[in-house]
Formats: sequence, structure tokens, C-alpha cells
Amino acid sequence: VTAGLTTVRVPLAERGYDVVVGRGALCRLPSMLPPGARRALVVTQPGVGVAVETGIEQVVVEIGAGEESKTMRTVEALGRAMAQAGITRSDVVVAVGGGLVTDVAGFAAACWHRGTPVVHVATTLLAQVDAAIGGKTGVNLPEGKNLLGAFWQPLGVICDTATLDTLPAPEWRSGFGEVAKYAFIGAAGLASLPIEEQVAACVAVKARVVAADERDSGARLVLNYGHTLAHALEAAGLAAASGDLPGAGPPVLRHGEAVAIGLVFAARLAGALGRIGPERIVEHEEVVRSYGLPGSLPAGAEAASLIELMRRDKKAVGDLTFVLDGPNGVEPVRDVPAELVEQVLAEMPRAASTDEGEA
Ligand SMILES: NC(=O)c1ccc[n+]([C@@H]2O[C@H](COP(=O)([O-])OP(=O)(O)OC[C@H]3O[C@@H](n4cnc5c(N)ncnc54)[C@H](O)[C@@H]3O)[C@@H](O)[C@H]2O)c1
Ligand SMILES: [Zn+2]
Repeated sequence: VTAGLTTVRVPLAERGYDVVVGRGALCRLPSMLPPGARRALVVTQPGVGVAVETGIEQVVVEIGAGEESKTMRTVEALGRAMAQAGITRSDVVVAVGGGLVTDVAGFAAACWHRGTPVVHVATTLLAQVDAAIGGKTGVNLPEGKNLLGAFWQPLGVICDTATLDTLPAPEWRSGFGEVAKYAFIGAAGLASLPIEEQVAACVAVKARVVAADERDSGARLVLNYGHTLAHALEAAGLAAASGDLPGAGPPVLRHGEAVAIGLVFAARLAGALGRIGPERIVEHEEVVRSYGLPGSLPAGAEAASLIELMRRDKKAVGDLTFVLDGPNGVEPVRDVPAELVEQVLAEMPRAASTDEGEA
């Protein structure tokens, strides 16, 4: 069962670790725990449905779903659960879930006794190719996403693709938005490969980028490709970063779908700046389409407010900064004129509004 497993190393010297990818990779979990650990706090969500066997005494704690659970309140609850379970610094936290669980449990582990080992078992495509790798952990504030956090590398990451068998369609699309991103930063031509190989190829790119820039001081910006517009769509309420949001509002795009739109927009913007030619723009549209992802702006997207939101992007310093393709590959581009951004947004294809009865 485990013959087809692939191990990708995140080469961070003394903080380096393995990411094991493939169907059945979960069997490697016990071997990833710190030697001498006696207890594990397993952090998961009710909807994940992945049982893990750590081989040591384990206490399972469930946290809520959706971005409103990604808070200090949840970190505090996890801290209290660790106290009650008698978790020491030589024990381990095991996060089992999507990026929300790995971000929150990773941050709780970073804080518990000022740093307790964590192992991530990533159970969404997005977490397997992106969130669980690289050591960024954190929670939200009412003022913004991921504002409180820490770099805390895991001891290891398990990407068992069998756990994806139960993943709902929107979560697949969300993950494929990130896979589409990797097509332009080092992992092209994946769409027809088995999912194990796609995940391993994306993990290899992320591992390389993280190793070159562990603390996000430059090179890691390429992982933000397609994300400037995606984050603006999320801030405008047209896309959601995490699954299972409460309330029965209109269906919003998932993060990766917003990234897909952001990729097409970034290509068109790069084209307008003369950085790439028309055939490369078409390539972006084709990659996005090959994953069944949207390449058009959702109904309700308003250029002026999206531009305002993009000015507040963490890359920007009062200007409009994008990560754009070009002759030297994907790189940050500062001071993009607002009129050009507005023009490219105006020329983007638009999704038909569902409540206008469009056939
Ligand atoms: N740390 C990083 O570098 C990084 C990178 C990207 C995203 N993130 C964060 O990740 C979060 C989004 O992660 P996500 O897209 O995985 O969403 P998520 O963690 O909210 O998971 C989506 C939904 O899928 C459910 N689920 C998880 N595994 C399942 C399975 N195997 N079968 C069925 N359902 C399952 C979850 O319970 C949830 O309802 C955001 O908070 C984002 O900020 C972090
Ligand atoms: Zn993303």
C-alpha cells in the first residue's frame, strides 16, 4: 500500500523536515513524532473525518470550522486542552485537517510552553500543496486575516491523498486554484497527472521557495502569485478563505477559485505592461480552464472598491504592488498605475449574475 509514497524534503538545516505524499502516507505518522513523546494532542474538526493512530497516548480535540473559528479564543481553548491533557514540551501536537486546522494548531503549538513540536496531517488539497508546508501559523483579528501568528516549522507533514476521497467539490476547486498557481512558478503541465504526482510536484516547489526564504523577506512572494486580486475579492465578501461559513447567503467563491481569477487578471495586467505576450496570457486562461476554474470576475465585483482593497495588500506600501509574470519569471512589480489596473479590470470577462435569470 505504501510502495507509491514520495518523500519531499524541506531543506531548512536544523529545522528541515519531510513531507510524505501518497495514498496511505498516514502510516508514516508514528515515525514522524519526536522520539520520547508520550502524549499527543490531536487537533481536528468535526467535518474532517480522518482518524489517526499516533501509537502513543492521544487526546482528540475538535475546533470549529470557518474563518470565525480562526481566533485567539480557539488558541486559548487548545492551550487549556493541552494543560488538561498533561501535554509537555517533549510531547507533540498533531493537526489533522485543512489549512485552518494546521494554521491554528500550529500557532497553538508555537505558543504552548514557548514551542512544542507539531506534525501536520493535511486533509484538503489546499493544505497538502500549500498551507501545511512552510511554517506560517496564525489566527485572525477582526481587523484582518492572519494578523497574529508565528513561524513554527512542523516536524513533518503527511499528505495522504486517500484522505481527499471525502473532500467536497468546492474544496477540490479551491486546492486546484493553488495547483494552477504552481504551473507558473515551477510546476507546469500537471493537470493530466495522477493527484499524488500533482501534490508532490507542488510540494517540491513550495519546499524550494520556503527553503530560500524561510521568513518571507522576498523570494517567498512568488507564492502570492494571483493572490492580490484574490485577497481583494475575499475582503469584498465575494470569496471565502475557509470552508463551512455559517449562514445561507449566496454561494461565494472559494479561495482557490479567487486565485484562479487572480491568475488570469495578473496575466492580463502583465500583458498590458508589456511584460508578457498574448500567447502567455492564453496559457494562463487554458491552465485555469483545464482545472474547471473560473477566469471571469464574479457578479458584484466593482473595480473601484477592488482597487481600494488592493492598495491595502500587505505587499503594497501605499501603492499598487502585484506579483507578475515577465521575462525573468514571476516577481513583484511596484507602482502599477491605477488607471491601468482599472482598465484591465474593466476588460476582464464577467460571470453572468445568477439572479438576473441568465440562461
Ligand atoms: N500557512 C499557510 O502558509 C497558508 C497557506 C494557504 C492558506 N492558509 C490558510 O488555510 C485556510 C484554508 O484552508 P483550506 O482551504 O484547507 O480550508 P479549511 O481548512 O477550512 O477546510 C475546508 C473544509 O473542508 C473540510 N475538510 C477538511 N478535510 C476534509 C476531508 N478530508 N474530507 C471532507 N472535508 C474535509 C473542513 O472541515 C472544512 O470545512 C485559511 O485559513 C488560510 O488562511 C495558510
Ligand atoms: Zn492561496
